[in-house]
Amino acid sequence: MEPKIDWLPILLRCKENVLAHIGPLVKSQNGPQPDLGTGAGGDKTQLADVVAEKAIVEVLLGEGISFTLVSEESGVKEYGEKPALCYVTVDPIDGTTNLVRGLPFFCSSVAISYNALLSEVHTAMVSDLLHGDTYTAERGKGAFCDGKQISPTRTPSLDDAVVGIDLNTYKATAVMQQLSELIQETKYTRHFGANALELCYVAAGLTDAFVDIRGKLRTTDVAAAMLILKEAGGTLSTPQGQLVEAPLDPKQTVKFVASGNPQIHALILRLLTRK
Ligand code: IPD
Ligand code: CA
Repeated sequence: MEPKIDWLPILLRCKENVLAHIGPLVKSQNGPQPDLGTGAGGDKTQLADVVAEKAIVEVLLGEGISFTLVSEESGVKEYGEKPALCYVTVDPIDGTTNLVRGLPFFCSSVAISYNALLSEVHTAMVSDLLHGDTYTAERGKGAFCDGKQISPTRTPSLDDAVVGIDLNTYKATAVMQQLSELIQETKYTRHFGANALELCYVAAGLTDAFVDIRGKLRTTDVAAAMLILKEAGGTLSTPQGQLVEAPLDPKQTVKFVASGNPQIHALILRLLTRK
């Protein structure tokens, strides 16, 4: 039997290594950039994405771990002699546009699982690289920010709610139609531009819900944050109220509603499905 890996300290070391490498790139990229092609997830690759992924892989290899990397940047890659032993699903930088423009909201996301399925993630980390807040979770053990247990809000209605809504899409006409009642009923809407971190904000009670029904967000972006939300006690489903399940794959996308509690979740789903 393979020795059990204590993942959390390793994930924290990944974060430290990312920070050490991307520090000099923050804010310095808002200008002409080298053409690094397109990542496995389909977006233009930026230097910070490449550097952050390399920093994460470097730590894992340094630990002598065999793994299959599922990354938004370099796709699916096998490392070590027994790569099927575990899957490391990574979005090296979520919020790349923010990072390169000097907008202070981006993170690194790493999720560990024994199989390439969203529901199989057992350990997760999302780190807010600029503010230094690191969210972690292990299945069945709760969710934490810098070691302090987090929990979502109990806000039952939209009257005073802060709800994140991702409207970043060229298909805005269709998406807006489905979202219009929710937007109309919500006191404060937000979108900061790094959805993994925005899910952690729901988990930690900074916001009350986060909605992304574009069908554009990849499982690599949210694999870690979804475990953190669930472990914090939040509610997560598809816009139709089903379990959010999908293969961990850089091309696989998901639609979801994430809420602090079942009451506000049901309310949001009702407003979405009335259309
Ligand atoms: C992006 C962010 C953004 C969302 C985009 C994602 P990336 O991630 O999460 O908020 O609107 O759809 O692609 O590309 O910076 O990793
Ligand atoms: Ca990314």
